[in-house]
Amino acid sequence: MDFCNNFSTVSAVCIALMSFGFFTRVSHQLSVDFYSMSCPQLEQLVFSVTSQRFKEAPVSAPSTIRLFFHDCFVEGCDASILISGPGSEREAVDNEDLAPEAFESVGTAKAVVESKCPGVVSCADILAIAARDFVFLAGGPKYPVKKGRRDGRASLASEVKNNLPRSNSTVDDLLKLFASKGLNKTDLVALSGAHTIGFAHCRQFVPRLYNYNHTNRPDPLIEPRLLKALQMLCPRTGGNTDVVAPCDVTTPFNFDNVYYKNLEANMSLLASDQALFLDPRTRGLVRMLGKHMVTFFDAFTQAMDKMGSIGIKLGNEGEIRRNCSRHN
Ligand code: HEM
Repeated sequence: MDFCNNFSTVSAVCIALMSFGFFTRVSHQLSVDFYSMSCPQLEQLVFSVTSQRFKEAPVSAPSTIRLFFHDCFVEGCDASILISGPGSEREAVDNEDLAPEAFESVGTAKAVVESKCPGVVSCADILAIAARDFVFLAGGPKYPVKKGRRDGRASLASEVKNNLPRSNSTVDDLLKLFASKGLNKTDLVALSGAHTIGFAHCRQFVPRLYNYNHTNRPDPLIEPRLLKALQMLCPRTGGNTDVVAPCDVTTPFNFDNVYYKNLEANMSLLASDQALFLDPRTRGLVRMLGKHMVTFFDAFTQAMDKMGSIGIKLGNEGEIRRNCSRHN
């Protein structure tokens, strides 16, 4: 069945079988072994790049995981975020902090895959595999990635703003946005656990440090020592706009469940993260995932699988880009 999906020139046998209704089910869904015939070494090829990048430029890990999220939420997981040029998603204000290391990692992986399996594997699938590899390399679960996504033909900066959350989003906003993508409350809390690695720029949390809810005072809940440290790092005005702090201030480089423990201890950076513990609808989940690492890994695995299926293009839709940053 995968045989027919994988070859750009569909054989006469496939056409005949398809016309009798064979294969239709599979051609409309993702599968773990989608490239088992056309590029059996795909996962090893991508891992050869991600593992090297993880050593040389560790920021590739959080930035690629975030890149995958920003891809899936806008126009679906179709690598539309990778297109460069004026007016593309990548140019939108909400994507300005996506680190170049993420784009480089996917671009390098694509080049290696193209050298062995030309014209076969989509950039959207390579991004999904790379994101999983980086979760694993940072200490998280090595979950199976379903494949078969096609690359999108559209990428519009104007689509970004309404489809991504913000650091000051309320739990209501987050639940609504995630529900609009087919993701539930558990998915929201589990996926937010990606903030167990990576960094945020001062401007994403500086209002909490000095002018919480327009009170001209810090958020009274932030743990006092953390508040002091963050205020030293991020002045109220005039600071260096490139300065970042770790989203998980306790174990910033490990993909673990300490992020949730931090929320319980009022030690989060982003207001949107802290809100998950403050809101009674999500507090129980935060507590549970903070207690049980295995439960977190399972919930994260399931939620990444769901997120990876948002708005996918299949079959003859879209294209298999030769270069991820340009349409063919
Ligand atoms: C729930 C709503 C979410 C909000 C409001 C949010 C917001 C943010 C913000 C403001 C940053 C800091 C960006 C910067 O200053 O450079 C960030 C970083 C990050 N986000 Fe999220 N995010 C959310 C969900 C997610 C999800 C679902 C994932 C992936 C599954 C994710 C993965 C990451 C990662 C890994 C980083 C660190 C990036 C880096 O170090 O380059 N986030 N997020």
